[in-house]
Amino acid sequence: MKNIQYENDKVYNRDHVATPRWVVENIYNLINVTAYGSVWLPFNNYDSQFKTQAAELKIKHKATHIFDDLGSDFFTTIPPDDCDLMISNPPFSLQNKIIERSFELIEDGSIKAFALLLPLSTLETAKRADMFQRYSDKLAIIVFKKRIKFLGHTSQFNKACCWVCYNIDSLKETRLQWI
Ligand SMILES: C[S@@+](CC[C@H](N)C(=O)[O-])C[C@H]1O[C@@H](n2cnc3c(N)ncnc32)[C@H](O)[C@@H]1O
Repeated sequence: MKNIQYENDKVYNRDHVATPRWVVENIYNLINVTAYGSVWLPFNNYDSQFKTQAAELKIKHKATHIFDDLGSDFFTTIPPDDCDLMISNPPFSLQNKIIERSFELIEDGSIKAFALLLPLSTLETAKRADMFQRYSDKLAIIVFKKRIKFLGHTSQFNKACCWVCYNIDSLKETRLQWI
């Protein structure tokens, strides 16, 4: 069901960009998403491709968003029971806090694995490098060879991106790849 705040967010929030279908199809294949039993999509409302395709593939999933009926803020929302994968395209402007929170959720056992679509520049800065290095045991990075064309409400923009993944089984042997 459409929600006014969400529809406004799509128009005015520079952080709100829709991920194109091919990007979601591609990562769902790469990580073998159908093998997961309980998937959390924490920045995804009803019209997101992450959600649409999870439903099409009949994956048990929970999509939440700050402007859903419960106001599901990522930083306070409890992941679904037995969550073995969290995957999404988070708001890039909050990336440091989101990466930090994602590792906290791994640490406390609320999620087993995650994949976050982030700007390629996420690999810069000492703060993020330190976080990634601390968890490098199970980290995998997938770099896009071409910039992704994100679909804004009134505009589009191209961004160099990568997936930052943690503890994804299908990526164990290929911890760094370009797609
Ligand atoms: C990059 S968009 C992703 C949209 C959609 N997931 C997609 O890829 O098509 C990130 C979304 O997260 C929402 N958001 C911002 N802060 C949030 C928070 N603390 N908790 C949950 N969602 C948040 C924004 O409003 C925005 O719609």
